[in-house]
Amino acid sequence: MKAIVLAGGAGSRLYPLTKVSSKQLQAVFDKPMIYYPLTVLIASGINELCVISTAQDLQRYKDLLGDGRQWGVEIQYREQSTPEGIAQAFLIAADFIASDAVILMLGDNIFSGGDDFPRAVSGFTDGATIFAYHVKDPERYGVVEFDRNGKAISIEEKPRHPKSSYAVPGVYIYDNNVLEIARAVKPSVRGELEITDVNLEYLRRGKLQVRRLSRGFAWLDAGTSTALHEASSYIEAIERRQGIKIGCPEEAALVRGFLNIGQFEALIDRMPTCEYSAYLRGVADEWHRLQGHDQ
Ligand code: TTP
Repeated sequence: MKAIVLAGGAGSRLYPLTKVSSKQLQAVFDKPMIYYPLTVLIASGINELCVISTAQDLQRYKDLLGDGRQWGVEIQYREQSTPEGIAQAFLIAADFIASDAVILMLGDNIFSGGDDFPRAVSGFTDGATIFAYHVKDPERYGVVEFDRNGKAISIEEKPRHPKSSYAVPGVYIYDNNVLEIARAVKPSVRGELEITDVNLEYLRRGKLQVRRLSRGFAWLDAGTSTALHEASSYIEAIERRQGIKIGCPEEAALVRGFLNIGQFEALIDRMPTCEYSAYLRGVADEWHRLQGHDQ
């Protein structure tokens, strides 16, 4: 399976933070926002990734993430010249997806807890898998309605009167039919190719699976200054309490076997002395300690 991180958009709600820097490069506590979705994807075992952003921001992502080799993955880049909707990602990255299945993540969605995504990726066969998360303000999102048996029966984009409290987070898994489906989607009244229309087509075909994320799972979006601040506070609190980092792609690459311990330690050697590199040293020490136990 291949992966796309969509990191374009205007980020107008974060102005002036986004005047010269992209939303998904902003700090969420101790790392750039895009590290969080990238880590989820690497932790799910995906090593072919594509970042989509605007013409003015793309170079900054290349400067930050390079070709991905440092993490044992491949990262390609594509440009979205105007933000014409989430589903446009499939048209822009069609050559990257080629004949594979694909998982799309929005670059400003932050998740913490559980192994729901790695399980959904490894168990994926065909059709579409999306997720549902209980929120207080469903009218801001795509909203899923379930029947008595827990089967999804409708999805509405930003409904004025939501039929449930379950919002669809920015993680979507599709088989290769998504290319053909996205090509047939027409722009909505707000002029965007809506991801909800892609999901509705899978629903119509009887090929949409909606998995409810567990209660303890955190889904934070960082689209407004308050939400960004809250996301930083949340990550800081969990990391301080547990001594474990969330959204650390190097660690996910080691755990997944994309990097061996030698490559992992060489990567740390190239980092400045800082809290982040000290954390990774701790991860390497723990790795050696566990190896010692195995022998
Ligand atoms: P939004 O938060 O809906 O839009 P935005 O990022 O442009 O922000 P604002 O409303 O403040 O102007 O987008 C959700 C995510 O999807 C975000 O990570 C940006 C991304 N996105 C694109 O990359 N291209 C697009 O065409 C759209 C609609 C969204």
